[in-house]
Amino acid sequence: MTSDGTRSRESFRALPKAEVHVHLEGCFEPATLETWARQAGVPMPRPRERLLSFDGLADFLEFLDWACGLANTRDRVAETAYGFCRRLAADGTRYADVIINPTHWAPWQGRTRELIDALDAGFAAAEEDELPPVGLCISLLRTQTADEAIDLVEDLVVWRHPRVVALSVDGNEAAAGRTGPRFAEAFRRAAAAGLRRTVHAGESSGPEGVRDAVELLSADRIDHGVRAVEDDRVVALLVERGIPLGICPSSNLSLKLYASMDTHPIERLRQAGVRVSVNTDDPSLLGTNLPAEYELASAAFGWSDEIVRDVARTSIDASFANADVKAQLTSALAGWGS
Ligand code: ADE
Ligand code: ZN
Repeated sequence: MTSDGTRSRESFRALPKAEVHVHLEGCFEPATLETWARQAGVPMPRPRERLLSFDGLADFLEFLDWACGLANTRDRVAETAYGFCRRLAADGTRYADVIINPTHWAPWQGRTRELIDALDAGFAAAEEDELPPVGLCISLLRTQTADEAIDLVEDLVVWRHPRVVALSVDGNEAAAGRTGPRFAEAFRRAAAAGLRRTVHAGESSGPEGVRDAVELLSADRIDHGVRAVEDDRVVALLVERGIPLGICPSSNLSLKLYASMDTHPIERLRQAGVRVSVNTDDPSLLGTNLPAEYELASAAFGWSDEIVRDVARTSIDASFANADVKAQLTSALAGWGS
């Protein structure tokens, strides 16, 4: 801690931690996208100075389609995966569950298995170079049909790819309406096959989306989940079941869910007994990194070292890392102080 009671960015970098809510689609470097677009003769979606100004979630998701459309070779996909691990190391993040949603990747439609193999090649090369390990969460889009969801799960179950740790669902619930019932069967099959479950809810849906994630999709973890705070009964459900939320403070500000940290509910949820971790969501495109997210939340709510360690411990416990990685991280965390 510095003499004015704040912590340096470096102390958050040194904090042993995992990241459990981050999308590979949000990790393209803008300069790389510009180069790829120029090479392909594809127009930029808007002028360079406004490239990363998003109106909200719908606009942001459209941008992801454009960006992933440029990643049209195995090498580009593997390089993106490798670069993701370099970013983890730079942030002092020691393990991540990373989400990819095959529907964003137009050049890979009908070739999800090849897409997973290309990503795996990048993650494996990174691990060989002693960069942090990664588990892959394969995501449905909220607007997909029940049959499409079941088809994806059936494929994942047949492939049993060792890199894949979980089924996920993301996208815009405001555009898709209530989707818990539509995806219940796919999630049931995923659970039966031993896949973990992580569900975006309580961002573009209200607390009812969080309840559906728990009751209909048997979520092990909820991505965002912040709007649970609007219903005490949903908060109580999360506390009772010990279901952790992967919260992304500056994503919620950038995508205009909350105007400032003064109204952000992470601290109310934490104080109510909900297990919360801090994450980046889409770091390159939203201009953030994990130490900066810890600094933002910690400064806004005056977190002590003990609270910071608790939040980092939740990130480790809530992750789908193997028991060895979790044990190593937990013991390293005990030695951290700012
Ligand atoms: N995909 C990438 N970022 C997302 C977010 N914040 N919400 C839903 N889907 C996403
Ligand atoms: Zn997300």
